[in-house]
Order: sequence, then C-alpha cells, then structure tokens
Amino acid sequence: MRSYLSKMVSSTRLPPREERETAIEAAGYNVFNLDAEAVYIDLLTDSGTGTMSDEQWAALFRGDEAYAGSSSFSAFEDAVESVMGFEHVVPAHQGRGAENVLYGTLFEDGDVVPNNTHFDTTRAHVANAGANPVDCPVEDAMDPDAPGDFKGNLDLDCVRALADEHGAESIPAIVLTITNNSAAGQPVSVENTREASALAEELDVPLVVDACRFAENAHFVKQREAEFANASVAEIAREQLSYADAVVMSAKKDGITNIGGFVAVRDPDLFEQVKQRAILYEGFTTYGGMAGRDLEALAVGLREAVEDEYVTQRVGQTQALGDALDAAGVPIYQPVGGHAVYLDAEKMVPEVPASQFPGQALVVELYRQGGVRAVELGSFAFPGTDRPELVRLALPRRTYHREHIDHVVETAAAVLETADSVPGYEIVAEPPNEELRHFSAELKPV
Ligand code: F0G
Repeated sequence: MRSYLSKMVSSTRLPPREERETAIEAAGYNVFNLDAEAVYIDLLTDSGTGTMSDEQWAALFRGDEAYAGSSSFSAFEDAVESVMGFEHVVPAHQGRGAENVLYGTLFEDGDVVPNNTHFDTTRAHVANAGANPVDCPVEDAMDPDAPGDFKGNLDLDCVRALADEHGAESIPAIVLTITNNSAAGQPVSVENTREASALAEELDVPLVVDACRFAENAHFVKQREAEFANASVAEIAREQLSYADAVVMSAKKDGITNIGGFVAVRDPDLFEQVKQRAILYEGFTTYGGMAGRDLEALAVGLREAVEDEYVTQRVGQTQALGDALDAAGVPIYQPVGGHAVYLDAEKMVPEVPASQFPGQALVVELYRQGGVRAVELGSFAFPGTDRPELVRLALPRRTYHREHIDHVVETAAAVLETADSVPGYEIVAEPPNEELRHFSAELKPV
C-alpha cells in the first residue's frame, strides 16, 4: 500500500465562523465566488488540484521550450504511447481544448452524438459543433441506491435506437466517458467497452473515449471484472483503450498535472485533420497550449497514474471518505465513485423543497459549518433535467490527509444534525446561458 511523505507544505486554515458567514453572503451563496483562502478543505474539483511528485517536479527542469520538435514533446509522446497505446497525439491546454479540436473535426450540423453521459463542457462542445448531444446511461446510473458494479456503462440499446430514429449516417461517433463523471464517477467495464467498439464498427464510426479518469476506471475493472482480477492497472488501461479509435484527455485528472490535455487518434488521415485544427486553436502540434516543462511533468504523471499502488491509495481514500460518511448516517450515492463521494441532498436536507435547490442549500451549509467547499450537481447545475440532487465531494490527488477526511465527515454529520433549520435558496442574478449558470449565478436564502 502506497503512502506519501511531505517534502513541501502549504498551509490552510479554518476561518472563524463569522468570517465564513460574511464570505458566503458576499459570494452570493455560490461557492465558485469564494476566495480559495476562505476555504479550509477544497473539494470543489479533482481537476488540476492534485499534488505532483518529486519526480514530476524534477522533470519540470528538463522542460525544453523549443517552439517546434522539443524533446519534452518526445518524452510526452513516448508516455502516451507506452501508457495508452496511441502513436498519434496532439497536446491541448486542457480537456475542453482537446474536445474542441477533436469534436470540431468530427462533428457537423445536425449530427447526433451518443455518450454514456456528457460532462458539461463536453455537451457544450458537441453543441458548439452543431451536433445534438444525447446521454445514454444505463438504467440505474442516476439511482443513488441501486447496486451495480458498472453503473457508468453505456446503454447500447439507446445508441441503436438513436441510429434507427435518425439514421446511422447522422451518428458521427460513439463517445464513452471513463469513469462517468456525470453519473457519480461510476466505472465502465471492459466488456461494455468491447461492445461499444463492436457497435461503432457496425455503424462504421469511431469509438472515442473521454479518458480523463482512465486509471481509476482500470482499478475498478481489476476489482470487479473477473477476467482482469490478476492483471495490473497498467495492463487493464491499455486493454480498455485498445478499443478506442481516439481519446480526448484532460491531463488535470489522471495525468496528475495542474494543467494540460491532449487528443490521440489511430487513423493517420484523421490525425492530419486534427493537427490542422489544433494549430488554429491550441498552438503548434508539438506544444498545443502547454509549456515544455508541463509536457515533461505530464509524461511522468501518466506513468505514475497507472501504478497499482498509487491508484489503490487514491481510490481507497475516496472509498474511506464514503465509508466514514455512511457510518455517520450521511446519505450518499452508492457505490462510491473513483474521484468523489456524492451526497444525496434530497435525503440529507428533506425540508428544502425541490424548487429551492436542496443541493445548493447543502453546499452552502457544508461551507458555513466547516469551511468545506463542495459542488452542486443537481437542479442548480443542470436546469430542466431530471437528475437526483447530488452534491460532489471531489478529492484532489495525493493532497489531503486523514485529519482532513475526518473533518469533512464531522462537518457533514453536523449538517445532518441541524438539517431541519437549513434554508432553501432562490436565484437573484444569473448569466444568459442557463447551462453554465452554476459557475456564476447569485442566490439568497428564502
Ligand atoms: N471530460 C470530463 C469527463 C471531465 O470531468 C472534464 C472536467 C472534462 C472533460 C474537461 O476537462 O476541465 O480539463 O477542460 N472536469 C472537471 C470536474 C472540471 O470538476 O469534473 P478540462
């Protein structure tokens, strides 16, 4: 079992109660508007917030900042090939940059794009390319209480029904997001990946994998898919990605870097098209929005991410948080995902009516009571959709310790105790694009 020593520290403090009250009011009861300094434990996201290893910091110094053909690009290219099995890769500044490059190349007006569940920026990029993003999760994906080993899977019948309804020619690709972030970080099985690949072949379209949490997914496959019980996480990751014709990657997750992303493809013709679009939007094809030093850190981070001991510790910490919350009587989505625990706000603050954003009410309360920053992923973030009122506690990689986990559990338990007095909220100001409202809208207690 892996554990970590601190070689450099960063301090964090729990601001006094009055400071927290003032800060959250000034933030319009939206935690995206809080200064990070006002937060004690920041579980807003696992994206770009992880801690790099000493090996990654050492690699930074090797950064070759040549505009074209840098040795840092070669190191990165070698890592992508060895860890993920792709020869053709273009860097991007982060995941959504990679989405813009690939989806802008593949999709056209009127296309229909199935995905096990679109992440919010993915949905926006598919729509931006003129296509219609359609979620095809398995039946129980949105049920916090349903058992299941692979609740992140793609529903293949849903994809077939789309092909029947719109014609196979309207479907430019099938996208598989591993793990399924918008479905509580649930994993996708290799079996489901194989089936998705076979269906993509039948429809004569590429299978694209959104691979940002591919190593965590491989860990779940090892635990839950009998065929892989004796395989290493690195072997499973290669096997699962071998079915993909292309990947989009946010390196801020399982690349364990603070910034970065990439597109990798198999087809040389598609690679040529992708490179042209990458030059336009991201930068020349051997840096694509990343500094040479960041490419070096990513080359190391990708290899670390598939070490069995690392990922066991990583997913184990998330599971430990979930188990402790469950033991304290806090209602959570089960099973626990790889990068985050999702609280069930409908059950946790039942007095707050559905129209008054129970998830956001819970987010505000976690901050007020313990300086913990979480994110709402229910009716506030996804207006007009029929989703459970979930609140995500996402754990940055290799960052927090046992005492922090304990504090989060104590905070959630304290909120549970006072759940009767938690107010609902109404929106007082919001941006024109409703889909992105949770990033900047302001609220007030009702
Ligand atoms: N795809 C998935 C499944 C993601 O979770 C994210 C980001 C992206 C694409 C976009 O990557 O942020 O590097 O541009 N998810 C973060 C989160 C922001 O908090 O879940 P990005």
